[in-house]
Amino acid sequence: MSNTKEVFKPNKKFAQNARIKNMCEYQALQDFATEDYEGFWGGYAKEKIDWIEPFTNVMDESNFPFVKWFEGGKLNVSAQCIDRHLDKRKNKAAIIFEGDRGDKQVITYLELYYNVNKFANLLKEDFGVKKGDRVVIYMPMIPEAAYAMLACARIGAIHSIVFGGFSAEALKDRIEDADAKIVITADGAFRKEKPYMLKPVVDAAIDEKSPVEKVLVIERNNEDVEWVAGRDYSYNELIKEKSAKCEAEVMDAEDPLFLLYTSGSTGKPKGVQHNQAGYILWAQMTMEWVFDVKENDTYWCTADVGWITGHTYIVYGPLAMGATTVMFEGVITYPDAGRPWKMVEEHRINQFYTAPTAIRVLHKMGEHEPANYDISSLKVLGTVGEPIDPPAWKWYYEEVGASKCAIVDTYWQTETGGHIVSPLPGATPIKPACATLSLPGIMGEILDPQTGERVEVGEKGYMCVTKPWPSMIRGVWGDEERFVKSYFGDVKKDGKAVYFTGDGAVYDEDGYITITGRTDDVINVSGHRMGTAEVEASIKKHPNVAEVAVVAKPHAIKGEGIFAYIVLKSDDGVADEVEEVKAINEVIKKEIGNIAICDDMVFVSGLPKTRSGKIMRRILRAIAKNEEITQDISTLEDPSIVKKIQNMVRK
Ligand code: WT7
Repeated sequence: MSNTKEVFKPNKKFAQNARIKNMCEYQALQDFATEDYEGFWGGYAKEKIDWIEPFTNVMDESNFPFVKWFEGGKLNVSAQCIDRHLDKRKNKAAIIFEGDRGDKQVITYLELYYNVNKFANLLKEDFGVKKGDRVVIYMPMIPEAAYAMLACARIGAIHSIVFGGFSAEALKDRIEDADAKIVITADGAFRKEKPYMLKPVVDAAIDEKSPVEKVLVIERNNEDVEWVAGRDYSYNELIKEKSAKCEAEVMDAEDPLFLLYTSGSTGKPKGVQHNQAGYILWAQMTMEWVFDVKENDTYWCTADVGWITGHTYIVYGPLAMGATTVMFEGVITYPDAGRPWKMVEEHRINQFYTAPTAIRVLHKMGEHEPANYDISSLKVLGTVGEPIDPPAWKWYYEEVGASKCAIVDTYWQTETGGHIVSPLPGATPIKPACATLSLPGIMGEILDPQTGERVEVGEKGYMCVTKPWPSMIRGVWGDEERFVKSYFGDVKKDGKAVYFTGDGAVYDEDGYITITGRTDDVINVSGHRMGTAEVEASIKKHPNVAEVAVVAKPHAIKGEGIFAYIVLKSDDGVADEVEEVKAINEVIKKEIGNIAICDDMVFVSGLPKTRSGKIMRRILRAIAKNEEITQDISTLEDPSIVKKIQNMVRK
């Protein structure tokens, strides 16, 4: 397979100064980790983390999959990200913010320190937030989102960020699952030069039974909002009175740092829990290795803080290593598809990290836009969120990277905390659309789920990690059983359960890993995970829906789109299909948010089911893609339904 693929060697000049300079160095690190796992991790933990008290034990896996890292160690993540840099970097830009309308703000490490301390004091003094309390953050992409996260970390509160695109219902579910007493939000923000609102969504998410006691509102767009007396408070007012000094709480290495809800193949979203030391260690190490950010570099990740990429690679990773991180409020194609390249030129950005879906849009809308700007500062280009397709990769490499920048196709997930499979920009020869190799310290392996053996070259298997690593998920909030079942129930190697990512993957002759996508009922829409069960549950709330099945269908820009097969209770609605589709999409918007709106909706007379009533999604996937049905359909409850559905879809 690799023989047919082009290989691009790292830029020699870049490699000379890279942290990992060649494949020998990569191999030496991976060998070290293989031979002395605890020595490897213990050494880095000592070197990289500013411990308040040293740890006494590197890893305890006696209660696997409940694993503990760096026990006995005490630290504070906000101090790791801010305080320890003040000696050397107090006047260095920590965050460069660019607003939707082009407004700019530079926040130095010293300013960040003051802002976070004030924020932390506000949470403690005015809101009574204590160590271990859950705080929900529902915010736009503004610096205060980062302050809020770091302020929670400073006082030991557990933040749970909910992406600003989620609906009131989705926000409500997450607030209630985490039993959060506090919500931090903004009145709204700006998108395409127009104000949009968040506070009304928060209002709608809180009813009499809600655990929420207080809401902090950052006034960003200054639009009118409702204020509930005794519940809602203006950050802009309260912050004025706050002291800029707040002692960092002494945290245990394994105290929780944050929750982040993500979709699974069944049921409601899971609150993925990450803890202090292991998470911050790997966030920092991967920042250094994978993006190779240097002291004077400017790094930009276009993600939203509502996703794990925003946590690890906009806030925690860059700040932990003392880098300058760019935060962008706007839309990358607004006012035109030259916006990111204009920003790269203006801020002289050196590392640019985005998603394949964004690359495809920028390619389609502005193929030659990069040439209109001086983007020669770029050294490393990153991609994340879904498998990237070779044409998008090629354009990124040639037009954006001028065939001299490394592309790091970083494979990871909410649960892994940081990258697990990725090229190293100064070392790894890269191939288009290939995540390449496990990072040093990560024991990634593609296994056969039946035998637990490593699969042969070219054979599809399950992407697993066979040893616990520091930034691994620590739990599903409030549901131990689901944690064990979701991640450690599918694959056993040598009789021992291993972490399974949910993704399929394949090796090529060079041992390179290509991720082929989810093996479960999870759809990857524009790099965002959507559970089919969740989308189906929302559609079922429409009173005229009897049955529904949702599958993924390839989409030119989004990677995957959502295709829904719907059986209505009464047929009258079908007379006006357009109206019915609209009404169902409204329900989805209300239950989940715009991100879950269906690309295709077909009304069918029934679904293909086995005699025991199981919906055959494989058939539905094939029909959505307009593929031949290769499966035996004679065992279906009603084999004739397949033809009927095909006719409905094709019409
Ligand atoms: C899922 C994780 C990781 C941050 C953003 C999404 C897919 C992620 C890649 C990649 C192929 C990828 C996987 C994974 N994915 N990166 N480089 N190549 N697929 O985080 O919402 O937790 O989704 O995204 O399917 O399981 P997430």
